[in-house]
Amino acid sequence: MKDKHNNSASNPISDILEWYTDIGMTVAIGDQPVNHKQARPKPSPVTVAAAPITRAHVEPLPEKPAHTKQASNSKAIAAACQTLEELRQAVLNFDGCDLKATATNTVFCDGSPEAKIMVIGEAPGADEDRQGRPFVGVSGQLLDRALQTIGLSRQDNVYITNIINWRPPGNRTPTPHEMAICQPFVERHIELVAPKILVLVGGTSTKTILNTNEGIMKIRGRWHEFKTERMQEPIKTLATYHPAFLLRSPGQKATVWRDLLMIEDELMRLGLK
Ligand code: URA
Repeated sequence: MKDKHNNSASNPISDILEWYTDIGMTVAIGDQPVNHKQARPKPSPVTVAAAPITRAHVEPLPEKPAHTKQASNSKAIAAACQTLEELRQAVLNFDGCDLKATATNTVFCDGSPEAKIMVIGEAPGADEDRQGRPFVGVSGQLLDRALQTIGLSRQDNVYITNIINWRPPGNRTPTPHEMAICQPFVERHIELVAPKILVLVGGTSTKTILNTNEGIMKIRGRWHEFKTERMQEPIKTLATYHPAFLLRSPGQKATVWRDLLMIEDELMRLGLK
């Protein structure tokens, strides 16, 4: 992929047109993109579960015990926070995750706290670590363009965070231990934002939030539910591919487009669009 994703001067119309072109929508007829350079078998229809499924339907893992002192600390600290600002301060002051020692900034959130859609990624990268905000690098720019195609933006109606608040050195995948330490914070984060729709981008956030070992390819494309003990209602949750994966595999943008349409349909069903 050439470095068009580094172009920071953003024009909403050309961004959407660029997204359409990237996913193969070059002609405004039909609901499946056609790759004119290659004859392909008809794609199989996306399977959408008739009813939302819960954590229990995705082969849940046994509840992870807070087996370390840091993890039990983070659980107690997160549980005590009553507002987003308290949670932000608690995460900023937390010293129980070693990633903090190598990070420049704590990355807590971006977007509108009143948003009905909350997007959860994996962990900050180099740009996010420098700026202290999630998804501000090339992946974030692609995420913004994708959301924009269904009328969503972090300026107006999306709230964004990550499972992990500190950049893992060299952008490695966070370890299970690091995720167990940070999980209480992101779960409390969800409770306090109380969105109507959760969007999990990538396998790491999907596995952590839906408490499953199933791969993202199997899990995406249908609705799940997320609920903690403190929540009265479950939140409709959709997993999709991480924008960093889309940058490496642009052919998968059409799949994410279908996931975006599911989100748009749900927003309309909820009377939020
Ligand atoms: N990838 C993520 O998962 N989160 C970010 O904030 C940036 C890149």
